[in-house]
Amino acid sequence: MHPFPRLSTLGVAVVLLLSLTSTSVPASAQRHQPPPPPAGLWMNTSLTPDQRADLVMKEMTLDEKIALLHGVGMPTDEPVTPENAASNRGVGYAVGVPRLGIPGIDMSDAAYGVRSSGVNGRYSTALPANVAAAASWDPDAAYAYGALIGRELRAQGFNMTLGGGVNLTRDPRNGRTFEYLGEDPVLAGTLVAKLIDGTQSAHVIGDIKHYALNDQESGRNAVNIHISERAMRESDLLAFEIGVTEGHPAAVMCSYNRVNGDFACENKYLLTNVLKRDWQFPGFVLSDWGGTHSTEKASAAGLDNEEPGSFFYGERYKAAVEAGAISTAELDEHVHRILRSMFAAGVIDYPRQRSVVDPFAGFETARKIEESGIVLLKNEHSTLPLNAGRLRSIAVIGAHSDVGMISGGGSAQVDPIGGNAIMPPGQGATRWLEEIWFPTSPLKAIQARAPGVTVKYDSGVDPASAAAAAKGADVAIVFAYMWASEGMDLPGLTLPHHQDDVIAAIAAANPHTIVVLETGNPVTMPWVNAPAAILEAWFSGSDGADALGNILFGTVNPSGKLPNTFPRSEADLPHPTLTLPPPESDHFNGPASPEQWAKGLPPFQVSYDEGIKVGYKWYDAEKKPVLFPFGYGLSYTTYRYSELKVTPGDKVKVWFTLSNTGAREGAEIAEVYAALPAAAQEPPKRLVGFSKVKLAAGEKKTVTIEIDPKYLSIFDEAKHGWTLVPGDYTIMVGGSSDKLPLKAVVNLQ
Ligand code: BGC
Repeated sequence: MHPFPRLSTLGVAVVLLLSLTSTSVPASAQRHQPPPPPAGLWMNTSLTPDQRADLVMKEMTLDEKIALLHGVGMPTDEPVTPENAASNRGVGYAVGVPRLGIPGIDMSDAAYGVRSSGVNGRYSTALPANVAAAASWDPDAAYAYGALIGRELRAQGFNMTLGGGVNLTRDPRNGRTFEYLGEDPVLAGTLVAKLIDGTQSAHVIGDIKHYALNDQESGRNAVNIHISERAMRESDLLAFEIGVTEGHPAAVMCSYNRVNGDFACENKYLLTNVLKRDWQFPGFVLSDWGGTHSTEKASAAGLDNEEPGSFFYGERYKAAVEAGAISTAELDEHVHRILRSMFAAGVIDYPRQRSVVDPFAGFETARKIEESGIVLLKNEHSTLPLNAGRLRSIAVIGAHSDVGMISGGGSAQVDPIGGNAIMPPGQGATRWLEEIWFPTSPLKAIQARAPGVTVKYDSGVDPASAAAAAKGADVAIVFAYMWASEGMDLPGLTLPHHQDDVIAAIAAANPHTIVVLETGNPVTMPWVNAPAAILEAWFSGSDGADALGNILFGTVNPSGKLPNTFPRSEADLPHPTLTLPPPESDHFNGPASPEQWAKGLPPFQVSYDEGIKVGYKWYDAEKKPVLFPFGYGLSYTTYRYSELKVTPGDKVKVWFTLSNTGAREGAEIAEVYAALPAAAQEPPKRLVGFSKVKLAAGEKKTVTIEIDPKYLSIFDEAKHGWTLVPGDYTIMVGGSSDKLPLKAVVNLQ
């Protein structure tokens, strides 16, 4: 099921209403259409996507144009109808123009893999959560991530992804933090662009979402976000700007929430002024599921396609065109954008060909990305890596680590092969808001790497029993998790199910305790000083246990760095208390009539008055110490930074030497930050570049990083554009936002 129809029975009525009012051309009507023009006019690949779209449009009827502007419901949850029959039964389908050989747009969620196809026995690879990929700080890994999703979408029979989530971690309690790429716009934007590029390389329509400022799930359909133009352009919107201008997604999904008064999907500032004018986005905007709230207003604001139904962009749209309330030019603009995107993405030249997906084939990619995303947070006395030859016994404790590792839920949920690892086999499809564990067993992965060592498991439910198990072992590895999903925010950053007590009891019983966290969000750690080592393994994907095993036993040297700050407590957040919706604005709990849903739930107000100060920029500016800073992560080797040189120019160039001073090879993520002149009135520093550098033991390399001038600029509201504030810029380089040993000042005019 899906959150949109999962509104209770009334919600189901909305969906039915939306589907029933569809205006797509029925088969009988199509029989009376004129014959298609000579095939090939728009199939001439030497023409541009825009020229090809125009040629198609010359032949299209009004009904055919309208049919492109909306979906026909959610095939996944609905019976087969003439309109959705050609679909692959994903979460959305727009019928295309069959008479002219333009295929339907067949959409599937695909945040960390192709969503819920287990019901059809068609599984896909679950990559580690997007936040884990972000922790790799590796554009190549992001590309591989996207490319795997693209390949599997095609193999499953889809030609459009609904992935590409890049909302910033403005509030670390956001239940979808695992689906996003962290708190920094340059890191998140750079990676999402690569992910999109990878996905589109498989001739699949790419997507970036949720545009914009859908940074909390609570009351997402009602909340009105207040934020200044400068703050949004330099934070959340900058991530989208980089994603759109570098990744060239064919589609942008507008979000549920309101921004400064208007719903995002009818927000002229967001859709037209910024996205289509400032960023020159040539593709199409589709609404999040049920996120359309008007016909004329949304159309004029720049919404091109309503999903998943046709309440506003079906009959009502046609009537508005016929009455002259929407001009033909405006209609054509939307249609053109959709068609040109289909040509640009290649879904017309490379028709879908369903094949057999081999989800195991993706395991290697999933494992490698997880290996590069696991973050070593603490490693006292070089407790890690483990040397199996020197151990007699290991206690493996907690979080179902005998059978599996947890995944993130919601519309991102990928079905585990064979079903939920903690349920009896053969339970079939996953259910909404259910914790899903992938059958990747840390216990087995540890046993396989420690032959001859006694490895015992304790469920970790009872602190006393867990402590007893830990006491008797050479090493205790305790697993702790915090599940998260779309459709909810976390009540706080405390590990649930009294896991803090269990960890504390184990660490008190055994000085060689290693904590492995499976979370999508930052968590607090009242026990942080007690264990010898801590690893953040995120939601680790199909082959997470092998990746973790390779890190624990040192086959792979950890290189991941935090894409989100781990604060000390909720009290240090910009908003210590999350603003929850009043009951009438909360569709997850409250009743909503179809009419009220369409009109939009009553707004409640949230002010992002921290503005630009998202994540580390907040803690820096407010001088709040944190648990683990942004960009932080340890390795089994050590690195040294030296010889910084910075030169001005069209692009500021940064040179420095990076040496591996330890005894084993590794990969270091080198981070470059800038402090702007005081006149810019910015937080103390911002990330402006990074590079993942592989180094053999003892090796040193000169690293060069060019800085995009925009990353050094501020958004000037009066000039309505980016401006460089003249003055002295301090460039800082190092391996973590709190440890930047190299500094140089460059004057920029
Ligand atoms: C989510 C989107 C998703 C869509 C389709 C919405 O509830 O917010 O991220 O793509 O549903 O499943």
